[in-house]
Amino acid sequence: MRLTVIGTGYLGATHAACMAELGHEVLGVDVDPDKVAALQAGRVPFHEPALLAKHTASGRLRFTTSYEEAAAFGEVHFICVGTPQRKDSEGADLRYVDSAFASMARYAGPDALLVGKSTVPVGTAGRLADTHAAEIAWNPEFLREGFAVEDTLRPDRLVLGVGSERAEALLRAVYAPVIAAGTPVVTADFPTAELVKTAANAFLATKISFINAMAEVCEATGADVSVLAEAIGHDDRIGKKFLRSGVGFGGGCLPKDIRAFAHRADELGVSLAFLREVDAINMRRRDRVVELARELCGGAVLGARITVLGAAFKPDSDDIRDSPALNVAARLRLDGADVTVHDPEAMDNARKAFPLLGYAVSAEEALGGADLVLHLTEWPQFREISPDTARSLVSRPRIVDGRGVLDAAEWVAAGWEFRALGRPAPGEADRMGRLKR
Ligand code: UDX
Repeated sequence: MRLTVIGTGYLGATHAACMAELGHEVLGVDVDPDKVAALQAGRVPFHEPALLAKHTASGRLRFTTSYEEAAAFGEVHFICVGTPQRKDSEGADLRYVDSAFASMARYAGPDALLVGKSTVPVGTAGRLADTHAAEIAWNPEFLREGFAVEDTLRPDRLVLGVGSERAEALLRAVYAPVIAAGTPVVTADFPTAELVKTAANAFLATKISFINAMAEVCEATGADVSVLAEAIGHDDRIGKKFLRSGVGFGGGCLPKDIRAFAHRADELGVSLAFLREVDAINMRRRDRVVELARELCGGAVLGARITVLGAAFKPDSDDIRDSPALNVAARLRLDGADVTVHDPEAMDNARKAFPLLGYAVSAEEALGGADLVLHLTEWPQFREISPDTARSLVSRPRIVDGRGVLDAAEWVAAGWEFRALGRPAPGEADRMGRLKR
């Protein structure tokens, strides 16, 4: 089939390359000529550059800035533009979605199907369908950064929000190889399809904040949240995934999506107040790291040399949007600490956004002379750091594990003062009856 993909950010570029991989001819459209030129030259915003290069080289995937060209190219048009948080409220900013639909609708022929993939407030698809003559469908994406290609080619499910058999048949034809591989397909009306995405993200955020609220209770009682999470996760109904406690969630999706959902619910007269608490619990984890840093530095961080391991909002990504690690780093810098950050992938992005922080090219360099180390993004590289080697580099061996993945016993044995969120400090643990090894 001949498909177009409008908006070539992370979602759109991935979708375009994956559609070419499924055997379609694809034209990617973006209003930003620099983005188009970069993509055409094979520079990609996701981890599998070979996929894009393969299809741009074969000519199966091209990019343009012209909506007119896109309308003439094919029948099915995927709209993948961003829906950031509005500046003046918690709601989603729909200006890019509205303008992409309006531009395509202007040029599209009578048979065109405009398929929204962006995460939007429930009711958006219906409103667009009422506004434009072209047929509309909604097909939300669920891709995780770092696994975008995998999640697009082998998704957990496909959700087809359609208003006609023709639209469903066209989308089933687009995804034929994915469906043939056994992917479940859920067909729904527009509002349900839109809600699947927002509800899924709200659930994931709630699960993380639930375990982080339990971490607060653990901190107040001397219990250990990592053992608690393991134990409740053995119950299949609860499950272990998204139950890792720590400095909380960040990124370009979960924080803004739960705010937009709560805001939309208010407009609809439905209370999703619990999502505001989910957000508040999440932000309190950042406060807790700042508080622990102060405590470990004797009450104030002024003049302390603090190493922050991690800048990306999660490993396998160079994305620093709403990164808990950088948020904590910037706050400590404001309090007068001398902060040095290292991240395996996100250094350039971090430096641009936070030019006043110090940056080191390696974890070893970052650790040099530190009075305190904060482990805030769980890159596998950081887990492999030897506590003995690290100890020989720092000024004072004090560490906060903000992701709960370092082996406390090993660090303590190497002479570190070790603190983790939701877990008792090692001496405290003994007092609470933990078995001594
Ligand atoms: C998320 C959703 O998973 C995806 O389906 C949706 O399409 C977009 O938003 P993403 O933002 O890429 O994807 O990251 P994800 O892997 O979900 O992690 C989100 C945040 O939660 C990260 O900051 C991560 O560190 C944090 N997290 C995740 C936890 O703190 N604990 C966990 O147990 C899991």
